[in-house]
Amino acid sequence: MAPITKIRIHRFGGQEVLRADDVEPSLPDAGQVLVAVRAASVNPVDFKIRSGKYPAVKDDRLPYTLGRDFSGVVEKCGAQATRFQVGDEVFGIVNIYGGGYAEKAVVDERAIASKPAALDHVLAAAVPLAGQTAWQGLFRHGQLKAGQTVLIHGGSGGVGHFAIQFAKAKGARVLTTVSAENVEFARELGADIVIDYEKQRFEDKASDLDMVFDLIDGETRERSWKLLKKGGILITTLTDPSHDKASEHGVRATRYTVEADGSELAEIASLLTSGKVKPHVQETYPLRSAVDALDSVEKGHSLGKVVLMVS
Ligand SMILES: NC(=O)c1ccc[n+]([C@@H]2O[C@H](COP(=O)([O-])OP(=O)(O)OC[C@H]3O[C@@H](n4cnc5c(N)ncnc54)[C@H](OP(=O)(O)O)[C@@H]3O)[C@@H](O)[C@H]2O)c1
Repeated sequence: MAPITKIRIHRFGGQEVLRADDVEPSLPDAGQVLVAVRAASVNPVDFKIRSGKYPAVKDDRLPYTLGRDFSGVVEKCGAQATRFQVGDEVFGIVNIYGGGYAEKAVVDERAIASKPAALDHVLAAAVPLAGQTAWQGLFRHGQLKAGQTVLIHGGSGGVGHFAIQFAKAKGARVLTTVSAENVEFARELGADIVIDYEKQRFEDKASDLDMVFDLIDGETRERSWKLLKKGGILITTLTDPSHDKASEHGVRATRYTVEADGSELAEIASLLTSGKVKPHVQETYPLRSAVDALDSVEKGHSLGKVVLMVS
């Protein structure tokens, strides 16, 4: 096959370690498919991996192609991959060993779903990792139900903007913290109470919560324990929560890592098709400008998602 461009790192470090390499594409194993990537999203995990501080990716994985999710077109199916056919438009999560920032990527067929026809590849690429993180936090780990109240910290970011919409679609009441300039955005997503964390103390607006969905950690998490009702739950994507703190407050607490799940992504796709949930893409960059795209996300104030346009 002709060489393809991949954005890779050969060592860990800052933005200077990203390189556009022209290399042979990998071929799919039995249960995998080779996808021509049209767009790939940028996630905070990408700069965490690039820095060398992400535990699951160490020296033995170098050179490493960045990128954990994509939207594209199936180009080749492995011998036992039967769910999709060449030419199908699909989107999904790439495993932790990376590969989204590339013209072609090899993915497990169980990790992907049909791309909703209503979304172009840029919008579809925004969904898999951030969307499934939001879904799994709220429903798989938090078991959020209609009528319950959730406080989402970081509601304007990639995960948070999906979490607000999913929780509302479920019939929950949503409070969220965002910076002043994103208050209107969070309201438009459907949040019932939007708290400008720079000007207001969220403790003054929230109490008796069924769930805190913590996408921020640190002081924000510490100030949140007492807002949960007895038996409530704190769910986080970040550091392990203190179980002593949880029992002190009579609540539960869980940290989780998102898992690729094509069936669950298909469920999310139906919400996207119905228009009940809309990805928001703040910026797009060409693949070769991945440094700038990653820099934008690393600043920590993304409004929705940043996406690389690949082909
Ligand atoms: N465990 C996992 O599997 C998993 C999966 C996905 C993500 N994550 C982690 O979860 C975190 C969120 O991911 P993401 O993709 O949503 O990141 P993101 O797109 O970069 O969004 C982060 C958001 O945090 C907001 N923010 C910053 N300081 C805040 C504060 N003090 N209070 C409230 N909001 C604040 C920013 O909004 P403003 O501009 O409004 O401040 C920004 O939009 C990241 O650390 C990521 O690595 C973990």
